[in-house]
Amino acid sequence: MDFVSEGNITEMAMRRWATAKNPRLAKIMPALIKHLHAFAREVELTPEEWITGIKWITAVGQISDDKRMESILASDVFGLSMLVVMMNGRLPDAATPHTVLGPFHIDGSPELERDADLSEGIEGEKLHVSGVVRGLDGTPIPGAVLDVWQADAEGVYEAQLPGAEEYLRGVFRTDDQGRYGLWTIAPKGYSIPMDGPVGELIAQTDISYYRPAHFHAIVAAKGYQPVVTHLFREGAPYLENDVVFGVRQPLITPFTRHEAGPAPGGKVMTAPYATVEYDFVLAPAA
Ligand code: BEZ
Ligand code: FE
Repeated sequence: MDFVSEGNITEMAMRRWATAKNPRLAKIMPALIKHLHAFAREVELTPEEWITGIKWITAVGQISDDKRMESILASDVFGLSMLVVMMNGRLPDAATPHTVLGPFHIDGSPELERDADLSEGIEGEKLHVSGVVRGLDGTPIPGAVLDVWQADAEGVYEAQLPGAEEYLRGVFRTDDQGRYGLWTIAPKGYSIPMDGPVGELIAQTDISYYRPAHFHAIVAAKGYQPVVTHLFREGAPYLENDVVFGVRQPLITPFTRHEAGPAPGGKVMTAPYATVEYDFVLAPAA
């Protein structure tokens, strides 16, 4: 019988964990152990560094609850979330690409009429967003559902505001020509939460901890693959160094400025406003 040595421990641990009953777990665990051991060997991890890492993981768990998922934030800033999104969401080039869901989506947003305003009573530069939801061949998709959410002008989401309800989020449906339209406020860039262990780690680097101005959308239609995505403001700061690696070129879109006056949806604006026109393109269901 072989007892443990520095040379054989990786193989021993991998073999042990390959006995997992679930075949997928039996594949995942040995691979995880292989890479963890390779990492420890590569950097020659010291006991002090090992305990620092253990304490960091503990702190990530301790600060997390159902509204704050520091562990997801860690995965986001390490680029793991986007890697998983891209590997599992490969789409034809013509389709609107996926990006991170992020931690601030809330289920069950109110269903709103065409050109309704998500930002009623909320400060910010007004923005009208409209376009068509299409298939890959350009065919408009009637009855597609757009679930949209965004941060306010301070970079704060409803999920971060105690007591806020139905704040900058809503569900819209395309009409019989596949068109959608909504009013909101122009999103601004914002910092990820920096008051936890992820922020502490980032503060030891030169990493920018901002996300570029964006709003979120999940677009779904019968017979098509739903897409979890964002629209980013063209020219916004942090497009090149989004802290969660979420920016994909086709999602960058111009915001056109307009003077006060007649505006989409029959509105007459008393202050300058912006518009975005963006067609979401869905791939057929597999
Ligand atoms: C967001 O866009 O809402 C987000 C995504 C990842 C981490 C933090 C925020
Ligand atoms: Fe966001």
